[in-house]
Amino acid sequence: MTKTILRALKGETLPTPPIWMMRQAGRYLPEYRATRAQAGDFLSLCYNPELAAEVTLQPIRRYGFDAAILFADILLLPQALGAELWFATGEGPRMSTITDMAGVEALKPKEEIHETLSPVYETCRILARELPKETTFIGFAGAPWTVATYMIAGRGSPDQAAAHRLKDTDRPAFTALIDRITEATVDYLSKQVEAGVEVVKIFDSWAGSLKGQDFDDFAVEPARRIIAELKARHPGLPIIAFPREAGDGYIGFAEKTGADCVAIDNSVTPEWAAEHVQSTGCVQGNLDPSYMVTGGDELVKATRRVVDAFSGGPHIFNLGHGITPEADPDNVARMIEAVRG
Ligand code: CP3
Repeated sequence: MTKTILRALKGETLPTPPIWMMRQAGRYLPEYRATRAQAGDFLSLCYNPELAAEVTLQPIRRYGFDAAILFADILLLPQALGAELWFATGEGPRMSTITDMAGVEALKPKEEIHETLSPVYETCRILARELPKETTFIGFAGAPWTVATYMIAGRGSPDQAAAHRLKDTDRPAFTALIDRITEATVDYLSKQVEAGVEVVKIFDSWAGSLKGQDFDDFAVEPARRIIAELKARHPGLPIIAFPREAGDGYIGFAEKTGADCVAIDNSVTPEWAAEHVQSTGCVQGNLDPSYMVTGGDELVKATRRVVDAFSGGPHIFNLGHGITPEADPDNVARMIEAVRG
């Protein structure tokens, strides 16, 4: 019996959609907070294979999700390429900045990333052994544009202004950076697959700020290259792409990139996505994560709306973005009950 997530990714319409949740291992769970305190800080947790595997398993034990996602972060790859990375308490990630070609050229060659990332591969090997046999194991990386926005600005930014500026004023340095990340991402994801990951997801959290030709050049094209290379190395590997807030850019994204599934954020309605995106393949999404905070009958109604809207085709139920630390774990259980009935 093939795992439900793998069946949906092959294009099968299931009577009940399989379900997992972005950031399902996270601060809303008391057991996550306890393990994180044991590890020290967030990065120490990411690089501790036993504890990273433990937090990956926690939401599987508590809720029986159909997929587990590797516990790591998209910013580990730039760190492995030589960027300095730290998490300022309550403020999110901070990195050293890249502002020109010299900065790109100072990055380590991709052959050297595995030295830093080997604990992540060990986490994968532990999970491949320990996950329940019905649970699909998802690995991931950031998409080149989203990773570049952090490497250029040195932090998260609402409008990604610094990355847009480099793109528009120093195209050679910007494209060299995108190429470096693209090539390293292929090797990183490939190692995750060799260590036991069954599906990979590419997170392009800031794809929505790329417009027109830029969207094609820096959201579609790098994803296409990564997917083509991964599928050449690992025939049949299912791949989920998440060009968050792409809007109309979601239309045809799977066909243009070769992705098996497109993850949809909650800035579009499930009815729109069913008509324009699911009509050509599997979709994942897209309940507004704020329902995990507010709960109540509205949560059940909104969950059923997503399930119903996508019931005519292949669908993996998920939130439209990660669950937040303020979420109530009981609301997650209510959502799962509303999906599975
Ligand atoms: O989904 C999962 O549970 C898998 C693990 C995962 C994390 N980050 C763990 C994490 C994944 C897939 C990510 C992806 C990620 N990381 C993205 C893309 C997806 C998205 O959310 O848009 C981005 C942009 C990052 C960078 C990043 N890491 C930010 C901006 C932050 C700070 C925000 C915050 O919530 O504090 C992180 C930290 C982070 N990554 C946490 C977790 C569980 C919280 C860390 C903690 O324990 O304090």
